[in-house]
Amino acid sequence: MASLELKSVSKSYGRKQVLADVSLTFQPGLTLLIGPSGAGKSTLLRLLSTAERPNRGAISWNGNTARGPWRRTLGYAPQAVDLPEDLTAREFALHIAALKGLDLGAADKQFGAITDAIGLHADINNRIASFSGGMRRRLIFAQAMLGAPELLALDEPTAELDGETARKLGALIVERAKSAVVVMTTHLADELAPQAAAVLRVEAGQVRAA
Ligand SMILES: Nc1ncnc2c1ncn2[C@@H]1O[C@H](COP(=O)(O)OP(=O)(O)O)[C@@H](O)[C@H]1O
Ligand SMILES: [Mg+2]
Repeated sequence: MASLELKSVSKSYGRKQVLADVSLTFQPGLTLLIGPSGAGKSTLLRLLSTAERPNRGAISWNGNTARGPWRRTLGYAPQAVDLPEDLTAREFALHIAALKGLDLGAADKQFGAITDAIGLHADINNRIASFSGGMRRRLIFAQAMLGAPELLALDEPTAELDGETARKLGALIVERAKSAVVVMTTHLADELAPQAAAVLRVEAGQVRAA
């Protein structure tokens, strides 16, 4: 069974320690990260997605600390990201698919299906420059889902979405979590908690079962 394991992981920015000696294992299923703003939820997701490295400790994917296999299976939706404004949503998705080494025909189809399920399909051939905040959130989510990743790190994917659209994303996330390690932060944590395998609270440098 797939797993992502943190062993004695610490992360600091300058003198500020955000995570202090955190050890935990993520397994297939949905894990919700909760905790106050600035607690380190996004920092933890950046570590899980190899966007940053810990200052101390080790992270292993299926028992292996090499980042190649871990990255190849990863989908990551960052909380904040600069999108290529001049590309259409579909061009951007295919660019991501190419970087991930996916079959482009299959990725194009999958992108169509995902965007259809979350109410973005009518806009996929429009330039990102014309997109609202909620459309950007959905595009960032859709690119993370490409290739059916075994490891999915989602940072506030439901921000700026209306309740109905957020629930549509939630349904896709719960479905993916049946076979993938999914770790996410969301303001809808209360709503998704019954379907989560774990709810973890990030606070004061520690990550504990909530
Ligand atoms: N690149 C960075 N440089 C310096 N400090 C950072 C950086 N990223 C995050 N921090 C700090 O780390 C702490 C945790 O931030 P973050 O992980 O974004 O929290 P959360 O997602 O829980 O709101 C905050 O105090 C934040 O200011
Ligand atoms: Mg955050």
